[in-house]
Amino acid sequence: MNKKLIAPSLLAADFANLQRDIEMVNKSDADWFHIDVMDGMFVPNISFGMPVIKAISKYAKKTLDTHLMINDPDRYIEDFAALGVDILTVHFEACTHLHRTIRAIKAAGMKAGVALNPHTNVRVLEDVINDLDLVLIMSVNPGFGGQSFIERTYNKIQQLKEIITTNNASTLIEIDGGVNAENAKKLIDAGADVLVAGSFIFNSNNQKQTISDLKNTINS
Ligand code: DX5
Ligand code: ZN
Repeated sequence: MNKKLIAPSLLAADFANLQRDIEMVNKSDADWFHIDVMDGMFVPNISFGMPVIKAISKYAKKTLDTHLMINDPDRYIEDFAALGVDILTVHFEACTHLHRTIRAIKAAGMKAGVALNPHTNVRVLEDVINDLDLVLIMSVNPGFGGQSFIERTYNKIQQLKEIITTNNASTLIEIDGGVNAENAKKLIDAGADVLVAGSFIFNSNNQKQTISDLKNTINS
């Protein structure tokens, strides 16, 4: 079985000590950096943009997994590639011509992901599943960290896994929102490959230890 991955969300990091928190993730058992970009339009919150990602990119030594919660993301694909982003995930609900957007992300040299809001059925991705490196299932409504996990997510993971298997695709399933020690293993058992965790990691007393415990939990 492939190793299951942890992607700490920097949205929950201490922005006044971002370099310190990035170094902590570098030294930890975490696999990716999860970077949440919010535009105040697609979601009711603004997080950070290019200058901050440029600073993150300078210190981060692991895969940059960037989750765009922005309308019409096609406008910035080249910019994210230039910043050193490895995986670029756009929202299904924010793209009119999703297939074209996926192509453009890959043409820019990045891996392509699509995120689904809690109300969006996984079947909408059936016709592009072989083009996708990753599907991100939102297990809270996008826009804020620290919200509680939506239980329906387990069903969505199972449905998506079935589509991936049926189509012989190698798409990874990433879960984002309200992930913690209680639901982590259950999410993996349902078919998830990558777990994003923000507040559960950064609000804990020993962040590095929390990451390694979570990593062990999902790989045992
Ligand atoms: C929410 C973001 C998440 C968020 C997760 O819109 O996409 O990545 O940081 O935070 P927690 O783990 O606190 O739910
Ligand atoms: Zn996210």
